[in-house]
Amino acid sequence: MLNFSFYNPTHIVFGKDQLEQLDTLVPKGAKVLITYGGGSAKRTGVLDKVKKELAKSQREVAEFGGIGANPELSVLMKAIERVRGEKIDFLLAVGGGSVMDGTKFIALASFAKEFTGKEEALLHFGFDPVPVESAVPMGTVLTLPATGSEMNGFAVISNGKDKLPVFSPYAFPQFSILDPVLTYTLPATQVANGVVDTFIHTVEQYVTYSVDARFQDRTAEGILQTIIEIGKKTVDEPEDYDARANLVWCATMALNGLIGAGVPQDWNTHMIGHELTALFGIDHAKTLAIIQPAVWKVRREQKKGKLLQYAERVWDIREGSEDERINLAISRTEEFFQSLGMKTKLSDHNLTQDDIEKVISSLEKHGMTALSETGDVTLEISREILKAAM
Ligand code: NZQ
Ligand code: ZN
Repeated sequence: MLNFSFYNPTHIVFGKDQLEQLDTLVPKGAKVLITYGGGSAKRTGVLDKVKKELAKSQREVAEFGGIGANPELSVLMKAIERVRGEKIDFLLAVGGGSVMDGTKFIALASFAKEFTGKEEALLHFGFDPVPVESAVPMGTVLTLPATGSEMNGFAVISNGKDKLPVFSPYAFPQFSILDPVLTYTLPATQVANGVVDTFIHTVEQYVTYSVDARFQDRTAEGILQTIIEIGKKTVDEPEDYDARANLVWCATMALNGLIGAGVPQDWNTHMIGHELTALFGIDHAKTLAIIQPAVWKVRREQKKGKLLQYAERVWDIREGSEDERINLAISRTEEFFQSLGMKTKLSDHNLTQDDIEKVISSLEKHGMTALSETGDVTLEISREILKAAM
């Protein structure tokens, strides 16, 4: 097992009717800014429920809506001005990954006085912690299980052209309320996105090379098997509580640092996927469903041991040559994504060979020239992956 440092301070409150915990979780007397997205929180009534809970004690409550999918710096800047101007001292994100990520950025940038007027600079530290010493405290009410943002210190922010990762130990939410019932209103396509994002977060930290990290491997396999068992059911039967609850908890556990501690991590699929979202507006998870099988096809030799373990322990594939078992595991994975209504080819989204070159240029511009768990994915190999995904 590799050395690791594991830190996760987020308090999770899980289950039906748990919004009623808000009054104890949000400091009394706080000046709270509730942040939300393009309107679903209003439409579904969750925003009103949140306000009702906050009103149980003396608090000043303001609202900031309009943090759309793939949160934009220009929108977040307006919230940052309000946090500073209105002396907000608690942020409450009500939404999915985009709202939670956007709120993390608001929390960090509002506090980073030395970056006033040049907040965009905070988007250029990659996976290194942004240089801030604190942030406005925040909590979340999750409405879309997918990204794990509710229990991690990451955010992905767009500056209008590029989608850029941001990390800070101060960006962990203080608490997150995970009530699976609040996710019943999601359209099927977003639930499918959540299933696939959770699946890919898990394999990015598992299908690499073995370091004899048995707990991490078996926990990853448990998440994958659970997701395969309940994935289609929770898309088809959105109000089946148990299926949805399992998705919600798997989504959180897949990217809160637990299964990634002490193991190599890939993230090749995510880095190519972020470029596809930025260039062509394809939903985050939909990019992953296309790229992950292609990564495995191109890097099957480097990932051979783990692909065979994945085939046997996740899909129960025990017969045939090594090549046959790996092929079958990859096609079972594609079929699983397709069963959720996902497309698994770039051409399904009308992309062409010319578009591949645009992705390669963006990867180069962002320094993504040595991707994967071993850093051996050059631009040339990314091009091969994209061709295999065509
Ligand atoms: O904007 P509103 O109107 O709220 O609608 C949203 C949005 O259109 C809607 N929605 C959310 N909850 C709903 C609902 N509709 C009905 N009922 C509900 N209960 O769903 C749409 C998608 O929401 P979004 O937050 O964009 O989706 P998701 O949670 O998949 O987040 C995607 C973003 O997270 C980033 C992605 O890059 C992308 O920007 N990621 C963040 C990560 C992290 N912080 O660790 C890791 C991930 O790999 C990912 O990169
Ligand atoms: Zn993801």
